[in-house]
Amino acid sequence: MFGWLRKSFTRPASTTAAHGADPDAATQAQAKARSQSAQHKSLGDQCLNAGAEEQAANHYRAAIAIEPGFAEAHCRLGDALRSQGEHVQAAACYRKALTFAPDLVDAHYGLGVTLLERSDSRNATVYFRNALARDPDLVKAHTALGFALLELGERSAAQACFQTTLRLDPDNGMAQHLTASMTGGNPDRAPRQYVEKLFDGFANHFDATLQQLHYDTPKKLSALIAQCRPDAAGDWAVLDLGCGTGLVGQELAPFSGQLVGVDLSGKMLEKARARNVYQRLLHGDLIGIMQEEEAARYDLIVAADTLIYLGKLDDVAREAQRLLVDGGLFAFSVEALEALPGAPPGASPPADYQLQPAPSCRYAHASDYIYRLATENHLGVRHRALAHLRNSVGTSVRGYLVVMEKRSADQAA
Ligand SMILES: C[S@@+](CC[C@H](N)C(=O)[O-])C[C@H]1O[C@@H](n2cnc3c(N)ncnc32)[C@H](O)[C@@H]1O
Repeated sequence: MFGWLRKSFTRPASTTAAHGADPDAATQAQAKARSQSAQHKSLGDQCLNAGAEEQAANHYRAAIAIEPGFAEAHCRLGDALRSQGEHVQAAACYRKALTFAPDLVDAHYGLGVTLLERSDSRNATVYFRNALARDPDLVKAHTALGFALLELGERSAAQACFQTTLRLDPDNGMAQHLTASMTGGNPDRAPRQYVEKLFDGFANHFDATLQQLHYDTPKKLSALIAQCRPDAAGDWAVLDLGCGTGLVGQELAPFSGQLVGVDLSGKMLEKARARNVYQRLLHGDLIGIMQEEEAARYDLIVAADTLIYLGKLDDVAREAQRLLVDGGLFAFSVEALEALPGAPPGASPPADYQLQPAPSCRYAHASDYIYRLATENHLGVRHRALAHLRNSVGTSVRGYLVVMEKRSADQAA
């Protein structure tokens, strides 16, 4: 798209100097250098698409070494560095790209995202608007601008951006979910695309951020499981739903002979793989994956901070019951509908679950619903307590830590 820009790039000085007396030779050398830099750029793109960011960065650097004014290579190097969480260097690459090609839309967009990820929402809006001034149909820039405006508290402007996103791309899960959360909607679940994009973008700084937010649900659930089964022998088959970067796997490794992790985000799964505690890691939606597993296969199913992206939990509870052995445990956390700010004390919530307004966009569940799911699926509630789950925007998010046990057919009868 921006191939024409490269025509004005700085030529490698060495080629013209070495062939100064022979214009044909100089032209040939330049063409060869261009073809080599284009090859590195294309290899970089392939690596980046395959998630090999470091290799991609090396190819982009090689392209730039041959052709220093190759704006697209600078921009893609910015993308590769941003994916690795190197925001300062990424921003420098985008700025460099813009010095060579001031209209390079991807560089404006990339710089906007980098600033947004560094919580500089105000400046991020400038670059998203720059990108949109050059390409008004750039869907991702409308969505990102909406995010930045939301961060700045400009809710109606943000909502307008998500509506534009939906007009251009009606199936956009990100905008669907954000719009629902800003208009009091209560769909059954967050769209897959929303979860995937959110956590792909979060994977590099997930562990550090969650530590800052005092998140220790994996530890708390693990302690409850140990309380329920003091005789655990370390040979359990364990299914970790929404395993993320593997914080739960790390806690549960001492209980498990076989640990299986499931997640919608490929980038989170890469982090989990690097921990080397899972025997199997499955990429996909947890409900679909549970439906494909054999019955009575697991001693323990865990979902820490995962079911907050689903409203309706009937399918999950039914599948958990089917997949557990008799006496097997289903341990999970959910945010408590009764503990939301403004919830009337002591009153039962009017719904089983509620999507919370942006920027949370997570679900909170009612205690009665949790008990009903247990009863309907022949699961006994071994533990259910209100606890601090993590901080969010300076307040404590409170939720239920639950351990259910599968009753044998005799007990269930
Ligand atoms: C807040 S993180 C928690 C990760 C991990 N359980 C922990 O405690 O550190 C939620 C994870 O659930 C995953 N997730 C959410 N909904 C999912 C779904 N329907 N299917 C599979 N994974 C899902 C997300 O991709 C994300 O990695």
